[in-house]
Amino acid sequence: MDLGLQGKVVVIAGGAAGIGRECAEAFAAEGARLAIFDWDADALAETASAIGATGAEVHTERVDVSDARSVDAAHARVIESLGGIDVGFNNAAIITPSKAIEDTSEDDWDRVVGVNLKGVWLCVRAQVRHMRPRGAGAIVNMASAAALVGAPGTTPYTAAKHGVLGITRTVALELATTGVRVNAVAPGTVDTKLNTQLFAGEDPFADALVRQGQPIGRNAHTSEIADAVLWLASERSTFVLGSTLVIDGGFTAQ
Ligand SMILES: NC(=O)c1ccc[n+]([C@@H]2O[C@H](COP(=O)([O-])OP(=O)(O)OC[C@H]3O[C@@H](n4cnc5c(N)ncnc54)[C@H](O)[C@@H]3O)[C@@H](O)[C@H]2O)c1
Repeated sequence: MDLGLQGKVVVIAGGAAGIGRECAEAFAAEGARLAIFDWDADALAETASAIGATGAEVHTERVDVSDARSVDAAHARVIESLGGIDVGFNNAAIITPSKAIEDTSEDDWDRVVGVNLKGVWLCVRAQVRHMRPRGAGAIVNMASAAALVGAPGTTPYTAAKHGVLGITRTVALELATTGVRVNAVAPGTVDTKLNTQLFAGEDPFADALVRQGQPIGRNAHTSEIADAVLWLASERSTFVLGSTLVIDGGFTAQ
């Protein structure tokens, strides 16, 4: 299937590791031109060099997605140097060790909600300011199964991910007739560094999540998430608007 991504400029926020990196590789394999945003300079350089070695065009920006000036300036530089933005994939997030709400600090809340919710809002805002006047574009926001059900011990993360769906649906409706589509993906548990952190050590909440597991009997591979992201960003999903594509091995079907 031709996804129509050849030559498209794709911004991937949080693209230096895990699912974001897998998506960057997949977009590059389709002939897209990449702008990878991340706050981890070493991972950013390593990822850009590995993907660049395949012949792909890779532009990098060291960005903190929770900072409006950083987000706006990076988008402006990409528009200036690559001529525009066709796709935004807003994927950056952090997680803190799981804690009951009474033990969760204001700092935990501010950090997680700042990156995982405000960060998505800032990236979407910068992308829409550019895409609406052009009358074209596709935005894919990274939610989670934790955007659809509660995940004990993770109130800031779960609240932020629920909020990502609020942003996705609202902006999709604001832009419904403009040619700019906004959708979200909601993965279950994927094998990445983020989960290694969550499941490290004695953590009763994470243990419960692991024990409950996913009906399919395994974690997702990052490539299984990338397939969904690329489809939503592509010309093969032109009637899909304000949707959440759930990729969770049956977790939320239980
Ligand atoms: N791994 C899972 O099981 C899982 C499940 C559902 C949803 N998700 C979501 O998928 C996305 C990617 O997760 P992952 O597992 O690949 O994690 P990861 O930690 O491997 O990758 C996240 C990337 O985001 C970057 N990042 C974090 N904060 C940033 C900031 N403020 N500014 C810029 N970059 C920042 C990190 O440096 C890293 O490169 C996240 O939104 C996560 O919530 C993951």
